[in-house]
Amino acid sequence: MSTSTKNATLSFSDGSPSIELPIYEGSIGPDVIDIRKLYAQTGKFTFDPGFMSTAACTSTITYIDGDKGELLYRGYPIEQLAEKCDFLEVAYLLMNGELPNAAQKEEFVHGKILRHTMVHEQMGQFFRSFRRDAHPMAVLTAAVSAMSAFYHDSTDITDAKSREISAIRLIAKLPTLVAMAYKYSIGQPFMYPKNDLSYTGNFLRMMFAVPAEEYVVNPVLERALDRIFILHADHEQNASTSTVRLAGSSGTNPFAAVAAGVACLWGPAHGGANEAALNMLEEIGHVDNVAAFIEKVKDKNSGVRLMGFGHRVYKNHDPRATLMRETCHEVLGELGLEEDPLFKLAMELERIALTDEYFISRKLYPNVDFYSGIVQRALGIPTDLFTGIFALARTVGWIAQWNEMIEDPEQKIGRPRQLFVGSPMRDVPDLASR
Ligand code: CMC
Repeated sequence: MSTSTKNATLSFSDGSPSIELPIYEGSIGPDVIDIRKLYAQTGKFTFDPGFMSTAACTSTITYIDGDKGELLYRGYPIEQLAEKCDFLEVAYLLMNGELPNAAQKEEFVHGKILRHTMVHEQMGQFFRSFRRDAHPMAVLTAAVSAMSAFYHDSTDITDAKSREISAIRLIAKLPTLVAMAYKYSIGQPFMYPKNDLSYTGNFLRMMFAVPAEEYVVNPVLERALDRIFILHADHEQNASTSTVRLAGSSGTNPFAAVAAGVACLWGPAHGGANEAALNMLEEIGHVDNVAAFIEKVKDKNSGVRLMGFGHRVYKNHDPRATLMRETCHEVLGELGLEEDPLFKLAMELERIALTDEYFISRKLYPNVDFYSGIVQRALGIPTDLFTGIFALARTVGWIAQWNEMIEDPEQKIGRPRQLFVGSPMRDVPDLASR
């Protein structure tokens, strides 16, 4: 934590003495006011549901400037990383703080990650115990949690080596688990990983190959999916990452903490948005229905939101969306799907929303999930697996953030306070008089 050079003075209208609160400067971004001693000094809490103005940790991993539409991983702009690096280089960067050189990359990719892609054979039985029509996120949440049973030997969180092994296992095995969830749901045999392929090529093969036929990875689609992974790898203290930190703050093992993150990601306001966006496009059905749908979105009483639009932090544009839009056009071109009716509908929705006063005045722009859903659909990924793909990528961010928290000497168990507005103490009446 940087030392404080400025103070804020907090005064009270009820006559309580005012207090001085230290202010810290980050390397970039807004200053923060340290309120940790507020309760001890004043007997008062702060109130900030949704953490609108609260920094819950210090971090060196990811920085977002929502007004500028800027996203940096360890200082590097997302645009440059998406152009010049592959997902595992980005994973190395997020976990270690620097990009790997050629030898470090070789060791990380072939010496570590790709040697851990298989899962315990018994995991197959675990998958088979689910209903075939279970939502893949239900299966994935359970499978990641089950990793603490299958790989209990790397759950000593006080040991840096053990933490590294868990991190490698999570990053290496998530593609296998996501593909198994898919294969199980469609009744096809699980495909074992094939480690002479890239991380992403291997995932495509585990998803779409069958033992009866050869499978050739299409490099355009491989690069597109790799970009989806890069763009979703980390996003600062979002809901699921904060969930992983909060769960991990109790000292639970990384598999359990990441399983909590997967569960949080499932929600439609977070990782479930790409699935919700695609469902919305299907519900609209035709370009001719777009205008009426937009009217419904603008009607406050309808409760309908334009999924894939808006962001808590980005109030100018989502830089990931710009990159994903580019990839979207590349993939649809490669597959000859530019005339796909759903894609045309999406483009019309984008056009209207970007010119409509309702969206402009509220600074609502397409977010990454608006386009990533379209790309994934074109790749042949079923809608209900979209959030699983997001979870696969975000696992890198979760584990980097979890590790940072464990190594932080100022780390404490997360324990928010509350503004209690329920009944004061009262006596329990006898049953007959209730
Ligand atoms: N469609 C229509 N109106 C919206 C939308 C939307 N998607 N998002 C926000 N608004 C309106 C909202 O009704 C409010 O209007 P008013 O001021 O008149 O009451 C105003 O914009 C501000 O909304 P908010 O709910 O205070 O904004 P927030 O920062 O709490 O919400 C959000 C952020 C992402 C939850 C929200 O924009 C949303 O629900 N979007 C759709 C879901 C979505 O695409 N989520 C994915 C986010 S990107 C992936 C990720 O990083 O997880």
